[in-house]
Amino acid sequence: MEDEKSTILVTGGCGFIGSNFVRYLLQNRPGWKVINLDALTYAGNPANLAGLEDDPGYTFVHGDICDAGLLAEIFASHSINGVVHLAAESHVDRSIHGPMDFVRTNVEGTCRLLAAALKSWRRRGEPESFRFLHVSTDEVFGSLGPQGFFIESTAYDPSSPYSASKAAADHFVRAWHRTYGLPAIITNCSNNYGPYQFPEKLIPLMILNAAEGKQLPVYGDGSNVRDWLYVDDHCRALLLVLEKGRPGRTYAVGGGAEQTNLEVVRLICRLVDERLGRRPDQASQGLIRFVEDRPGHDLRYAIDSSRIRSELGWRPRHDFLSALGKTVDWYLDNPDWVESVRSGAYRNWIAANYGRRLAGEEEASGREP
Ligand code: NAD
Ligand code: TYD
Repeated sequence: MEDEKSTILVTGGCGFIGSNFVRYLLQNRPGWKVINLDALTYAGNPANLAGLEDDPGYTFVHGDICDAGLLAEIFASHSINGVVHLAAESHVDRSIHGPMDFVRTNVEGTCRLLAAALKSWRRRGEPESFRFLHVSTDEVFGSLGPQGFFIESTAYDPSSPYSASKAAADHFVRAWHRTYGLPAIITNCSNNYGPYQFPEKLIPLMILNAAEGKQLPVYGDGSNVRDWLYVDDHCRALLLVLEKGRPGRTYAVGGGAEQTNLEVVRLICRLVDERLGRRPDQASQGLIRFVEDRPGHDLRYAIDSSRIRSELGWRPRHDFLSALGKTVDWYLDNPDWVESVRSGAYRNWIAANYGRRLAGEEEASGREP
């Protein structure tokens, strides 16, 4: 990557990881420029990046990664020397009920982005420093049993429509590298948690339900294991890979914090109760309900991050309990944000600020210069 004058196209920058990454990049690389392309689906909230509107290094483009014309326009009007591709449909349960949106954004959208990036890279004389960083998931590897870890060479074996669409996207990214030489890199990370995560995912959902005294639905018997990665640690890994990763290489990024879902939910109950000063007889653990299991529910994810640790010197800096505590604090301290994402009020903000039909509605063109 060229230092100082780098211009990075981030896709999905108004989502959970994207908004944390955009802020992380602007804070840690002063002078760099970020162009954030986001369709503002239900998961994309401009309020996640509140305060950056007047930052001269930040440009927001409201649009869809499937819009080839818009992508061509963006690459033509900015000297982009890196792409960090985060835009996706990201929720497994939604993918079970509506897989086609996942095929469209995660597979077609990734291919359109690859095609536009390749064209621009060629036009600019194929600079060696260009990077296309595709952010993927450990879910492409399927499920582990009680033992063992995913590494970069683990065979793909996705279970859900979500993970299948991410696996397909990964294959296309590799194809664009091997066939056309595009300097692309893939990261496969474990479950993230932290501020600005949409409350459909386990951790924010349980924090908010526990705080509000609502039931805590645990799928199956709660013994499924996830390897939790604090979003700030992930952002640091992404920037490191962008700057120092080798084209054609894959890096697995795990938090090294395996927990069963039931352990996570119990911890959240304890942390929320402590903060709200609840008495033992008011304990939120009593709200836990074991509900019907998710179809195709992967038992266990766990990553061996040796490669990124030894080659790039990365390691997670946050331990699970304290970062979970910070996450609980963030959700309890930001009721306005919670209210706006739940009510969809931010969609009115989008309509007012971008003067167009909302993404996902009929005939939304998703194009904003
Ligand atoms: P998210 O759902 O919070 O955000 C996704 C963002 O992409 C939203 O801002 C949305 O508006 C945008 N988007 C969706 N479709 C789009 C389209 N067609 N064009 C442009 N923008 C579009 O997701 P997240 O949790 O931040 O995940 C980001 C990336 O990281 C995804 O690619 C996901 O697969 C990957 N990932 C996430 C996790 C996790 O635990 N959250 C773990 C591993 C990998
Ligand atoms: P989730 O946050 O949806 O992430 P992923 O499916 O990508 O791992 O779910 C994390 C784990 O928590 C997963 O094993 C499913 C489980 N889960 C529940 O038990 N109850 C819930 O309400 C949700 C949303 C998830």
